[in-house]
Amino acid sequence: MSALGAYHRGVASSQSQRELGFAQRSGSLPGRLTSGRSACAPMTSPLGPCSGPAPFRAQCAAASGRAAIRPRRAAAPIVCQATSSEKMTVAITGATGLVGSRLVAKLAAAGHKVRVLTRNPASARSKLSYPGLEFFGPSEWRRGVEGASGVVNLAGEPIATRWTEDLKKSIKSSRVGATTAVVDAIKAAPADRRPGVLISASAVGFYGISSTATYTEDSPSGNDYLAEVCRAWEAAAQSASSVGARVAILRFGIVLAPEGGALGKMLPVFQIFAGGPLGSGKQWMSWIHRDDVVDLMIEALSNPAYSGVFNATAPKPVRMSELCSVLGNILGRPSWLPVPDFALMTLLGEGASVVLEGQRVMPARTQAVGYRFKYPDLSDALRNLVRNN
Ligand SMILES: NC(=O)c1ccc[n+]([C@@H]2O[C@H](COP(=O)([O-])OP(=O)(O)OC[C@H]3O[C@@H](n4cnc5c(N)ncnc54)[C@H](OP(=O)(O)O)[C@@H]3O)[C@@H](O)[C@H]2O)c1
Repeated sequence: MSALGAYHRGVASSQSQRELGFAQRSGSLPGRLTSGRSACAPMTSPLGPCSGPAPFRAQCAAASGRAAIRPRRAAAPIVCQATSSEKMTVAITGATGLVGSRLVAKLAAAGHKVRVLTRNPASARSKLSYPGLEFFGPSEWRRGVEGASGVVNLAGEPIATRWTEDLKKSIKSSRVGATTAVVDAIKAAPADRRPGVLISASAVGFYGISSTATYTEDSPSGNDYLAEVCRAWEAAAQSASSVGARVAILRFGIVLAPEGGALGKMLPVFQIFAGGPLGSGKQWMSWIHRDDVVDLMIEALSNPAYSGVFNATAPKPVRMSELCSVLGNILGRPSWLPVPDFALMTLLGEGASVVLEGQRVMPARTQAVGYRFKYPDLSDALRNLVRNN
């Protein structure tokens, strides 16, 4: 199995389906709006007033009810979007990944229509098997985007692997390339069938690394390689606003999920080394439970206040030593034995920087806009994740 294949652990398991209550559902996806509020505030936008098909008009009407929460940095006015209680059609890149598979499961369980934009439809079909899913290969992304109410962009070469020069190029080009492809598809859609919103992933690596600074969405970008990747990635996404789409960029912290990502890698390391801080232990870990990152994306799809940049990190970041101590307690393993840098460098090469160095990031705008974290505390998050594993 390739390194890339090994990292793709985000398969929607039957366990996930059960957790989400999917198995109890009839399996029919309504795919239609069930409600719409009557008052639609006058909207000005490069796309003009909402004149799209019925679902879009109803979404537009509903949007006016959410005007109370305003982002601090205003962005392009919104044309059409759904509220969280209405049925959406969401096109997703990177849907087969650790985060995407959970997003697909949750959207499908709630009766939303999901279109999977993938590099490989056959492989994606084998990983995601919910009734009503549609799959679109690279040459079909335009068709997959047209008529969707929103797009979520998660695609990118995994970074927590051994970095070679070629891989570093691919880490950047895969993100910028997939984002450009999906933004081009949004731009190419006829105005009355154009998605109203793009939710695009970025990472807290945007800020660079520091053991002393605290970063919010207003902080400047860092000077290292990952910061440069994030800037290019975000700029590609932001360009969708030129045709009136609302763009929300979510800078993900370390997404905690037992099947993969940092926690998925740490759990076996803990087993081998009897647990303990990775590296110095002083590095900051700005983490988020996978359910919160998924809920945040679903909220951002339907709530027009989500425009601009939002940190997708829990409000209580911790140092690595604390994360290991909490994890050790929950696993009933000692957590005093540090895992030396060289062991991780052997395993992950330069990619070890993802866990050996970090940054303290606060979700200032995310909280200001009203998002309530289901798991603000690390111990609750880890207990939930480890017990449900
Ligand atoms: N997980 C984290 O802790 C974390 C933290 C910060 C940022 N992020 C970012 O959030 C996004 C989603 O994270 P994730 O953990 O769910 O990612 P993931 O599990 O690695 O999945 C990413 C998806 O991107 C697609 N992909 C993989 N390699 C690609 C390539 N070379 N070119 C184009 N597409 C490629 C794959 O979908 P198909 O095979 O279906 O095309 C894959 O399922 C990623 O962009 C990641 O960088 C994640």
